[in-house]
Amino acid sequence: MTAGEHSSMDRVPMMVANWKMNLTASESEAFASQFVSLMQAHTEALGTRLEIAIAPAYPALDRLGRALAGSGIMLAAQNLHAEESGAFTGEVSLAMLEDLGCDFALIGHSERRQLFGETDTVIAAKAQRLEASSVCPILCVGETLEEREQDATLAVVDSQLAAVLDATGDGLASRMVVAYEPVWAIGTGRTATPEMAQTVHAAIRRTLVSRLGAVGKRTRILYGGSVKPSNASALLSQPDIDGALVGGASLDPDSFAKLALASLETS
Ligand code: PGA
Repeated sequence: MTAGEHSSMDRVPMMVANWKMNLTASESEAFASQFVSLMQAHTEALGTRLEIAIAPAYPALDRLGRALAGSGIMLAAQNLHAEESGAFTGEVSLAMLEDLGCDFALIGHSERRQLFGETDTVIAAKAQRLEASSVCPILCVGETLEEREQDATLAVVDSQLAAVLDATGDGLASRMVVAYEPVWAIGTGRTATPEMAQTVHAAIRRTLVSRLGAVGKRTRILYGGSVKPSNASALLSQPDIDGALVGGASLDPDSFAKLALASLETS
């Protein structure tokens, strides 16, 4: 079976905001009130035809979570520590995220890999920590420009994916969301063309299906890297692109609402 053959109807599209080190708790609340009102007319679609999650900086999780309560919009963390608790100054544990009502946690974002030295082993340990939790991982994978130029894209993405799948059981894999984010497209304004992205998404789908069978057909694979309202529809209409992980364009309620609606239209 080729990747595009099975129906994307089985996969509820997702639009995830990754605010990175932007927006204070107060700014997050102001965002939430504007965004919730922009999405008001579409709340019946949330959960069944579209899932939306926002990953603010840690200090905003509590107040943003309260501001989003009852809206159907979910809460995500940008990271977590692999250990349960202990002497890890500056780090945040899974229990702390669970206590704040997080639904998702990003793991393996390229900025964590590149700027904070996170290896596949560290990322796999974080995935293992999430196994007994209802917090769902959004595993980020993607190649650097150098790796793309060396034609190593699929090998790099496959090994990043394998590091987590090898370390975890089918239970986690059945809930996991994958985000393909070419490093050269993040925050640069350079987006992969829809065809380039689909080629990698289809390869990820093949790996997931060969390792997980039917479960792999249901895994959502998001695209990330300079997604904005003007390029979202073309990306989202690719058969194996099930949503987007959005940085810069998610910081403005209007633009993030446009992205959410683009995702609903292509669902
Ligand atoms: P960007 O970031 O949309 O600003 O390129 C995406 C991401 O890093 O998740």
